[in-house]
Amino acid sequence: MSVNRQWILRKRPVGEIAPGDLEFIETPIPVLEDGEVLVRNIYLSLDPTNRIWMSDQDQYLPPVGLNEVMRGGTLGVVEASRSERYPEGTIVNAGLSGWQSHTIAHEATLSPVPLLPGVPLTAFMSVLGATGLTAWYGLNDFGKPQPGETVVVSAAAGAVGSIAGQLAKMRGARVIGIAGGPQKCAWLTGELGFDGAIDYKNEDVGAALDRLCPNGIDVNFENVGGAIMDAVVSRMNNFGRMPLCGMISGYNSEGVAAGPTDFGRILMHRLTIRGFIVIDFIPRAMEAIAELAPAVMSGQIKWKAHVVDGLENAAEAVKLLFTGAHDGKLLVRISPEP
Ligand SMILES: NC(=O)c1ccc[n+]([C@@H]2O[C@H](COP(=O)([O-])OP(=O)(O)OC[C@H]3O[C@@H](n4cnc5c(N)ncnc54)[C@H](OP(=O)(O)O)[C@@H]3O)[C@@H](O)[C@H]2O)c1
Repeated sequence: MSVNRQWILRKRPVGEIAPGDLEFIETPIPVLEDGEVLVRNIYLSLDPTNRIWMSDQDQYLPPVGLNEVMRGGTLGVVEASRSERYPEGTIVNAGLSGWQSHTIAHEATLSPVPLLPGVPLTAFMSVLGATGLTAWYGLNDFGKPQPGETVVVSAAAGAVGSIAGQLAKMRGARVIGIAGGPQKCAWLTGELGFDGAIDYKNEDVGAALDRLCPNGIDVNFENVGGAIMDAVVSRMNNFGRMPLCGMISGYNSEGVAAGPTDFGRILMHRLTIRGFIVIDFIPRAMEAIAELAPAVMSGQIKWKAHVVDGLENAAEAVKLLFTGAHDGKLLVRISPEP
């Protein structure tokens, strides 16, 4: 009998994810019932929100239960099928199927991956997946950048930030990215065409914002929170918009996440701060894909994936998101592409 390899959440991490918080186990794969398929997972998406799901803080989905398979998005290939809709060999998005080598899923919970010529499968786990949708809806629905406006993006060289910044450039805005390290900053201003980049690990963010945003900031695509968010918010213009996408600087900390120190500025400058979660936009996914897919195929939008081999390495790899020692959308290759 074949086995499923799975990561199980055993303890809720305190601070950084530590050995023993997750356990790697093997379980037998049950026999398929009518309408079910066995998916051999190929890629697992590792996301900052995994750390939130491991906690029992108030959040947008139920926390992952202790002794349950860790939640995570996967893409795979149908290996055995009792579904007419999904014959063997079909590449499918198995949703939040979890950190596991195989998924048994009912056909109703799967969606086919619309393969595009010249576009690698990893794109559907990044720029043409939840990452791209997050950037697209956050920027367009809530950032609403206008030509000539100044847009600041934090975690700008990351999976979401790099796409949000490029979309803002396509809307005619001036775009300043905040990222860690000279290489990531050089990529933003070189290959991605950002108008400026701030290396928050090596320079004073406030002083750099004053230099690079002399007319203030109209849109803050916020991915980080904490001191970086504070520096940006305190320079936002009247009627500025802040799509609040993430606050990664606080995900390894206990307690509530702090808002901007100068809360009064939201009133005085009539700012709009809008938290959003991409799962609310899945029903509208095709609006974003209609712009993103041709831009990816033509090379207008650039993106990177950082692929770590081996499901057994997932618990160690997820920590890269919090040090920045990855370069692009963080994925685990669980098994070879067909
Ligand atoms: N709202 C939604 O639906 C949604 C969906 C997806 C992602 N998000 C959020 O979007 C943000 C980016 O996620 P992603 O998936 O695109 O990951 P990512 O940006 O590819 O990786 C996370 C990056 O965050 C930066 N970072 C980590 N700790 C930091 C700290 N203490 N201070 C400053 N920067 C820090 C690092 O970049 P540097 O190397 O530049 O430091 C790291 O590479 C996260 O906040 C995430 O929660 C939200």
